[in-house]
Amino acid sequence: NKPTLDQCYNLLDFEAVAKRVMKKTAWAYYSSGADDEITLRDNHSAFHRIWFRPKILVDVEKVDMSTTMLGTKTSMPFYVTATALGKLGHPEGEVVLTKGAAKHNVIQMIPTLASCSFDEICDAKSGDQIQWLQLYVNKNREITRKIVCHAEQRGCTALFITVDAPQLGRREKDMRSKFEDNGSSVQNDNGDSMDRSQGAARAISSFIDPSLSWKDIPWFKSITKMKIVLKGVQRVEDVIKACEAGVDGVVLSNHGGRQLDTAPSGIEILAAAMPILKERRLENKIEIYIDGGIRRASDIVKALCLGARGVGIGRPFLYAMSAYGLPGVDRAMQLLKDEMEMNMRLIGAPTIADLEENMVDTRAVALH
Ligand code: FNR
Repeated sequence: NKPTLDQCYNLLDFEAVAKRVMKKTAWAYYSSGADDEITLRDNHSAFHRIWFRPKILVDVEKVDMSTTMLGTKTSMPFYVTATALGKLGHPEGEVVLTKGAAKHNVIQMIPTLASCSFDEICDAKSGDQIQWLQLYVNKNREITRKIVCHAEQRGCTALFITVDAPQLGRREKDMRSKFEDNGSSVQNDNGDSMDRSQGAARAISSFIDPSLSWKDIPWFKSITKMKIVLKGVQRVEDVIKACEAGVDGVVLSNHGGRQLDTAPSGIEILAAAMPILKERRLENKIEIYIDGGIRRASDIVKALCLGARGVGIGRPFLYAMSAYGLPGVDRAMQLLKDEMEMNMRLIGAPTIADLEENMVDTRAVALH
């Protein structure tokens, strides 16, 4: 008695279905956050502290939500962010997300730790669909160099270096469920021995280099022409450093609440950072993205009003894929598109360029 797809009216509905139908270990891996999951919960609730200041009597007969992200046109200001281990949720894994994204002309970020091979995910691409690569930097830089160069050859246009995970966070739900069920399908292409008692995440992450630092950024710039974005920036000082380092963008993110617990939400970092960046005239020097807790198009609109170029969405697409496969991902994207159109009309913004800072009230964020 699973609800039919047309009974899913918003992104959160997919989560409820996924929780019911997914294998316990898979649900634990996807849904868990670090430690007490305070950041995980706040990622979502932070949006509720921001209110709209809609404009009236603007001609919104036609709404255009297309935009440009890192130099490429895209139909909507969100992308499918990188989430590891797609096959835990669906036997075909990440290619399901590729096909869903293709249908809506949405950009997909391919995770280093995908369950499908990188080439399978590239091969599933249709036409001039855009893909980016999420990179976990290997202790062996030669392996990293090969991954980066191969991604560039295969047409990826941007490299998102994950900078919030020198060590994987403790996701206790994941650890507990792994403790109860050792027989999961976690893969490890690096040949490292896995300690399954640590949960899926930790079992596959031992190759990540904790010595990665600002000093390494010039090297990345020297090995690739792809745009370079730092994923997991959590304070304005580091956005300024990223500008100085000459990277093309940052994602203000706490890794979906899976790393440092009580780290701030992307939307609140954005709200605090933007005035400082504007003061220093840096707001146009770098593209700013956020992710974490985005479940409604109103969340996207708030981020754009506050100066984000676009937003990443993770779990909702995993849940839609796990519960309904490709039709689920397709519907999730369509729902977001419909919500987006409605929100833009109701706020009085016919195009993305019309979304302005004065259309949101962030006083409750500042007090928080
Ligand atoms: C992630 N995320 C992530 N990030 C990354 O840089 N490399 C990775 O391998 C993964 N893997 C991963 C797995 C799962 C199951 C989740 C839920 C998340 C973090 C991801 O890119 C993004 O920051 C968050 O998912 C955004 O939050 P929401 O949309 O899931 O709330």
